[in-house]
Amino acid sequence: MTVARVPVNICNSQDETCGCQSGVWTASVIILSIGSWVGKVGPRPADDEVAHLISPRERLETVRQVLSEVPLIDGHNDLPWNIRNFVHNQLAEFNFNTDLRQVAPWSKSAWSQTDLVRLREGMVGGQFWAAYVPCDSQHLNAVQLTLEQVDLIKRLIEKYSQNMQFAASSREILEAHGNGKIASLIGVEGGHSLGSSLAVLRTLYQLGVRYLTLTHTCNTPWAKSSSVEDKDEDEGGLTAFGKAVVQEMNRLGMLIDLSHTARATMRDALRTSKAPLIFSHSSAFAICNSSRNVPDDILKQLAANGGLVMVTFYNYFVKCGSQATISDVAEHIYYIRKLIGVDHIGVGGDFDGINKTPRGLEDVSKYPELFAELLRSGEWNVLDLKKVAGLNLLRVLRQVERVRDDMRTAGATPSEEYLQNSPDTIGKCALDINSVQRVMEV
Ligand SMILES: *[C@@H]1O[C@H](CO)[C@@H](O)[C@H](O)[C@H]1NC(C)=O
Ligand SMILES: [Zn+2]
Repeated sequence: MTVARVPVNICNSQDETCGCQSGVWTASVIILSIGSWVGKVGPRPADDEVAHLISPRERLETVRQVLSEVPLIDGHNDLPWNIRNFVHNQLAEFNFNTDLRQVAPWSKSAWSQTDLVRLREGMVGGQFWAAYVPCDSQHLNAVQLTLEQVDLIKRLIEKYSQNMQFAASSREILEAHGNGKIASLIGVEGGHSLGSSLAVLRTLYQLGVRYLTLTHTCNTPWAKSSSVEDKDEDEGGLTAFGKAVVQEMNRLGMLIDLSHTARATMRDALRTSKAPLIFSHSSAFAICNSSRNVPDDILKQLAANGGLVMVTFYNYFVKCGSQATISDVAEHIYYIRKLIGVDHIGVGGDFDGINKTPRGLEDVSKYPELFAELLRSGEWNVLDLKKVAGLNLLRVLRQVERVRDDMRTAGATPSEEYLQNSPDTIGKCALDINSVQRVMEV
């Protein structure tokens, strides 16, 4: 989800009693499949072979074979928020299994790039669906709205179970892909969705949420966002409670997502986490100096921790301007590969959360074109493509699951840290539960 959404200041229209807080597979198939899959093009190159494929058609055929073997897992898609916006979560009014370019209001929106027809064409094998709610709901009804978005994603998966399968682990992603379905995972975008409560975090995990983006465009009482101007850019990323959130995520086995966070938050989280971290939709700061992109020093720390940056496609983060092309996205990937290696790259298009897409990468049907573009450089072998497509994310998720299992074995118990004086628990918009006197009921 990008920043550019119409900001609605709900506080203006609210009564004063509730003050204004809104601020803002691996069967790494080493077979030289000599079979008939390619028709007239010939077998794809071996995993470790640099692919010198001359024709665009050969490159696309190779990519299609690769993506049938390994799930292409995208880090971030904002379709659930558009369903909220356009049809108020009324799935009866929403046909996902059709070309939405032909259906209003989707056809009229610059923010719509996703439907099942094009996901199939794009060979998407896994998707983190964003349970995003606006920062304006922080300290108000953010937790309820987040639960409604989680419910929406689950109902969507259920309604389209012929094409989608819920996944909450590395094993379940591979099972879904093996069944020919889109492994559908849930990510919550923004720590404001927690209502400053580890109990809410644990409950979201129980519901199947597998990543939390520590912030969206607002600071939380415990973490700094990249979108909020700050004099001291290097200090005060995570508070003690913020670090407790990260540690509890390690204990639960939830991915920590640093997209949207301030640099200081990135550094603190990298220092605190026992498990690798991700950026679910961010690109390279060295190429486009948006605060939504990842600086080199952070990329190096991310790699040292075994993590992953899922390169994003929004023109303003690719080229720092309104125009970009598929080759410009590839440049980010080449740059990151040179800096920290191919093991730390994925893709997180942010489709349905952006309104300007690169030429050649207009919607979810175009992922194979991006991988074909990488092959065009003549420097990529099939295994490299598999890593960027999904093997890297699967590795990171497995490692996160291993840290969880190790902590369980070591006897770690649920954290009882809490945040004192949070606007989520005291103040005009919350009942201060600790102040409630016991009433005798008769
Ligand atoms: C990005 O670079 C431009 C041009 O050098 C500069 O004006 C701008 O302040 C930079 N932005 C950030 C976030 O560093
Ligand atoms: Zn976002």
